[in-house]
Amino acid sequence: MEKSKSPTYWGYLKVKELLSLQDGVGDGEVSADELNFIVIHQVYELWFKLVIRDLKDIVKIFDSNRVDEQFIPLTVRRLDRIITIFKLASDHFELMEQISPQDFIAFRGKLGTASGFQSFQVRLVEFLIGLDPDEMVLLGDATPLTHFRNNAKSLKGGEEVLQLIEEALNSPSLLEVIEDWLYRTPINGSSPQDSKDAVKVQGFVNEYIQCFRTEQDNLSELLITMRSGNPENIKRRFEESKDMIKAYMNAEDVPDEDRQRRQRIRAAILFIESYRSLPLMSWPQVLLDKLIELEEHLVIFRSRHARMVERMIGRRIGTGGSSGVDYLEATTKYRIFKDLWGIRTILLQAEVIPPVDNPSFYDFVSR
Ligand code: HEM
Repeated sequence: MEKSKSPTYWGYLKVKELLSLQDGVGDGEVSADELNFIVIHQVYELWFKLVIRDLKDIVKIFDSNRVDEQFIPLTVRRLDRIITIFKLASDHFELMEQISPQDFIAFRGKLGTASGFQSFQVRLVEFLIGLDPDEMVLLGDATPLTHFRNNAKSLKGGEEVLQLIEEALNSPSLLEVIEDWLYRTPINGSSPQDSKDAVKVQGFVNEYIQCFRTEQDNLSELLITMRSGNPENIKRRFEESKDMIKAYMNAEDVPDEDRQRRQRIRAAILFIESYRSLPLMSWPQVLLDKLIELEEHLVIFRSRHARMVERMIGRRIGTGGSSGVDYLEATTKYRIFKDLWGIRTILLQAEVIPPVDNPSFYDFVSR
């Protein structure tokens, strides 16, 4: 290639265009602190762009009736990148804290009602992963989605943004495709289309619950022997925990029409987590762990943001109109992969779990 035909660093990265985007909304030059504020937000939006791309790619891989095993390590790598971005994004708030509260107040008025609350890319990330818009914390008397819908027309560019959000909501989420995949997971060698599947799955769950009950009884006895509280109270708490696990594994908390599916999904998570040493279960277990790690870092990101905001504006009302820090703290309770978290309560050590039927089914060689 001729030297003159080669792209330049600044041309390839469009550096000049990029550097012309930090002027804010006023006429004059922005202060160094405001520049800090703008640059940080723009960097976040660029990271979110990459996260959205990776999420869409992962969903595409899993949005199929069959996911080849070879795609699981690739998915794990993509999830690792998203996790790394969220780790960096949490640390990044430190740079925002270089602005003192008083220096922030000096230009806060320029923001008007603009707020991170309007970051449509964050909403896309949330909805692409699978956050249920109806489970979100209310801002006043409406969910963030209802706010977007109600205000889209009156905000510049609002309708375009709303369309992107609606598209994300109407496409399969990471949660949905992962749960479809979990639903199909063979349990003790049995798949949903097999005639005896329901019996086999229930058999596995019952056996496992029995092991869990034995473990709880042993623990309860131990605590009573060590006089760690009132024996009746100890016994009662362990009995409650045993009943709770049985109800959870039998999906008694979901409507009748969804029960069989939910039960099988929970059984599949339990199976993968419990038999992760089987060759065909090892990558799926790593994948489940990565999804937990992803959500863990989303929660850390939300918490870190709330701490930075508290340091910056105390308990003031936000520019978006929320209660501010109280609102942000409430959002740290969001959990998308509820059953991945839920199953952790019931996991047992390898020595006490029921043996797998047909372990050779889960060998690389036999398939
Ligand atoms: C001085 C800096 C910042 C302050 C004082 C601040 C404050 C707030 C407040 C009070 C809210 C609640 C909504 C409202 O009433 O406005 C909020 C929401 C939000 N902020 Fe910030 N923020 C700051 C920086 C950032 C940065 C750097 C990001 C990076 C992306 C960010 C992302 C968000 C997001 C995504 C929400 C919506 C949270 C949700 O609804 O779940 N903020 N911010």
